[in-house]
Amino acid sequence: MTVRENEKVLEYTLPYKHYVDPQILDKEKKNIFFKNWILAGHASQVEKEGDFFTFEVVGESLIVSRDKNNKLNAFYNICPHRGTKVERSEQGNKKVFMCSYHGWTFQLDGKLNRAPNFDNGNLGEHSCMTHVKLEVYKSLIFVNLDKNARPLSDSYEELVNDLDKYTFLDSLKKVRVTQRMVNANWKAIVDNYLECDHCKIAHPAFSRTFDMNNYNIDTHKNYSCQYSQLKKGGNENQAHFYWIWPNLMVSIYPGEEGNMTTSTILPISPDQSLAIYSYYFRTDEITEEQEELIKFVDQVREEDFELVELLQTGFNTQAFKQGIYSPTEHGLRNFHQRIKEAMIIE
Ligand code: FES
Ligand SMILES: [Fe+2]
Repeated sequence: MTVRENEKVLEYTLPYKHYVDPQILDKEKKNIFFKNWILAGHASQVEKEGDFFTFEVVGESLIVSRDKNNKLNAFYNICPHRGTKVERSEQGNKKVFMCSYHGWTFQLDGKLNRAPNFDNGNLGEHSCMTHVKLEVYKSLIFVNLDKNARPLSDSYEELVNDLDKYTFLDSLKKVRVTQRMVNANWKAIVDNYLECDHCKIAHPAFSRTFDMNNYNIDTHKNYSCQYSQLKKGGNENQAHFYWIWPNLMVSIYPGEEGNMTTSTILPISPDQSLAIYSYYFRTDEITEEQEELIKFVDQVREEDFELVELLQTGFNTQAFKQGIYSPTEHGLRNFHQRIKEAMIIE
């Protein structure tokens, strides 16, 4: 086969401009982050009436709160009077939310409580902080900024059927949260998670634990699942690493007690992303064994962040315009296909 014929069978990744161009990121915000279910938090953060936390989805500040009817609500953290950000703390417990500009107050469900100098009855749509769709699945709180979004269980029907077998997930608590700014495009971080061709080289501890010759990546419409045999037996409880469209990774460790970690990747700019990773266990106390697991997961993650930061510097190269897939990188291909569909590109 000539070099030219050989090149024809190569399959190319997303062009590198998708990892550096601010206009493309703007379009991704509208077409992807404002249209899909995004993990915002966990039910254990808002157990009691008045409990709340704030969360930002690519520049849009939101409040998630539990109201006096025990219902969870999500709304934009923006005062309907003139647009001031209302709640400044990350979490807490309140009877009402108060805007610090002209003192409007809001009930726990976002409805106006009192607006000095105004008659509450005449304020139309300005009498409420703007609601956002919220759903809870396995105690995970998802929000969707698209008013017409399909229910989570419709959009992710296959995934929900798959995860339903992990009944212990409902009883976990969010025990630890870490945030890390990564100097890389959000997709580069997801790309890295979706293939394990790099594992033998980049993750020595991971490769010692899992059998890299028996590593599986199952792809589905809007999620994928990676797993392999453990080198030292106990395979009925082996870990499963899920990626869920667009920006969520969930690692489930059934084990004796059962636990889980989640990572949410949120773009800040084309070459910077916020990674929020959370650890969920059954109890608030972390055992020595669980600390070991956290250390293991953190180490693999840091190894990955170092690689993607190195990769990001290459996206600006003039040398060539896009990378190529290996035959085993079908998880990555699947993700890029979803991106193309969402961004309406060939
Ligand atoms: S902007 Fe919030 S009370 Fe005026
Ligand atoms: Fe990795």
